[in-house]
Amino acid sequence: MRKILGLVSSQRKQANGEILIKEVAAAAGDNCQLKLLRLADLNLELCRGCYTCLTPDKQCPLDDGLYYLVEQIKDADGIILSAPCYAMGPAAVTKVLGDRIIALAQIMDQWWGKPCVVVATAGIQGWEGYTSTALNTMVRLMGFDLKDSHMFMGALPGEGVMGEGAITRARKMGQALFGQARPALVGECPTCWSEAWRFNNPETVVCTICGQTGSLVLEKKNIRWEYGEASNLFEKFNLEECFHEKLRVKVKEFIARRKELAEVRDQYKGNDIWLRR
Ligand SMILES: Cc1cc2nc3c(=O)[nH]c(=O)nc-3n(C[C@H](O)[C@H](O)[C@H](O)COP(=O)(O)O)c2cc1C
Repeated sequence: MRKILGLVSSQRKQANGEILIKEVAAAAGDNCQLKLLRLADLNLELCRGCYTCLTPDKQCPLDDGLYYLVEQIKDADGIILSAPCYAMGPAAVTKVLGDRIIALAQIMDQWWGKPCVVVATAGIQGWEGYTSTALNTMVRLMGFDLKDSHMFMGALPGEGVMGEGAITRARKMGQALFGQARPALVGECPTCWSEAWRFNNPETVVCTICGQTGSLVLEKKNIRWEYGEASNLFEKFNLEECFHEKLRVKVKEFIARRKELAEVRDQYKGNDIWLRR
């Protein structure tokens, strides 16, 4: 039996993200069991930037559901993450989880490459903003193998499965979970599927997430994308270098330069007025 972990970022019960997860899971294969977890129930706290999680044999000192989630991820064969678009980005709880990346990166070896699909939901066409880009980036940073990602439209709870082609699309995602990943869509970064491009000059585009380069080539009436070498930002060695080595070097540097840095910071000590509710 294959175990699927459905992570629900919405607080609404039986709403779009939740029921789409059920549609996706139902199409993932005959012998699958879905377990659901509402991210809000983990009572995740905000990362305090203490770097304790970088100390060997130590973990994040925040007393919340992060390591319960870790156990559920380890136990699962595949992950479905659903999140609603709020204010043109993903609901904040996904960012609160994503911000715990340093703690997670220390142990992601234990689930590296687990298949994952992302179900995003939004209420108003054209107001989805950077939701999908942010969610896709987050699951790649967490070391999952992103097989499919789709934005479903529906403002009212239940509408997410009522749109034309929504159920078919959800089922396709289910098949992708333990099957073939979908290719990048036209306009998405071919490496990380981000939709956020920077035009350094009219010919050169750079993916603002993974650094993938490309250019738009004008051919008679068509414009064709041409890409440089695939970016390797989300490869395991790169994530490990960033979240293990480079950060540990910085922590060591902080200890060595603590006095000098304190002198600089102390100049800003004063009669600050801190407002507290
Ligand atoms: C606080 C809030 C902000 C929202 N912001 C947006 C938005 O910026 N763009 C959009 O298309 N939909 C927005 N929506 C609509 C939701 O994304 C949409 O209803 C979605 O399907 C909710 O998912 P759920 O049913 O799983 O909770 C917002 C909804 C709420 C409650």
